[in-house]
Amino acid sequence: MIELRKITWDNWEECINLKVTEEQDNFIASNIYSMAQSYVALLNDELPPMTYAIYNDDIMIGFVMLYHETSEENEYGDEECYGVCRFMIDKRYQGKGYGKEAFAKSLELIKTFPQGEASAVYISYYPQNIVAKNLYATFGFVETGAVNDDGELIAKLNLR
Ligand SMILES: CC(C)(COP(=O)(O)OP(=O)(O)OC[C@H]1O[C@@H](n2cnc3c(N)ncnc32)[C@H](O)[C@@H]1OP(=O)(O)O)[C@@H](O)C(=O)NCCC(=O)NCCS
Repeated sequence: MIELRKITWDNWEECINLKVTEEQDNFIASNIYSMAQSYVALLNDELPPMTYAIYNDDIMIGFVMLYHETSEENEYGDEECYGVCRFMIDKRYQGKGYGKEAFAKSLELIKTFPQGEASAVYISYYPQNIVAKNLYATFGFVETGAVNDDGELIAKLNLR
């Protein structure tokens, strides 16, 4: 069973050690970078980023980082939304259906609106990242046509 669990003193180093394949290295920041970024967010932003270790039964297999954007400070427009800023399954556990299940859990969590209302979820990925692009499309994400500063395509899922 796939679960999202809090990062704790017991599992944070294991989370840092999760890795994607060499070919996927350019598609996503390392987990250590994401955790460092979360620390800066914690010191400066109103709400903490939502970082979770993904478990299959009791084995850590991946990492996800979500955040909430208010209508004022929004990089996507002027509506309140959630963003999935990192999503990865360790290379040892890819291709087994866990990514799909973990992404479904992440959306379920977003739909509880843990940090506030939202009318959409945004995600971005490099055009070459076909596996991620297809995965998100199966959940109803549609490309907006916009590209972010890193050259990633932006896709949106309407919640209302
Ligand atoms: C994207 C990612 C999370 C998918 O995780 P996963 O556990 O391998 O995904 P699943 O096993 O649930 O597979 C989902 C779909 O992708 C397909 N797939 C997975 N790996 C694949 C591969 N290497 N080549 C082709 N198809 C692949 C599966 O067949 C499945 O397709 P289906 O829906 O038609 O059955 C994983 O590849 C990853 O961590 N990539 C590197 C990090 C990254 O790019 N994250 C996204 C940044 S935006």
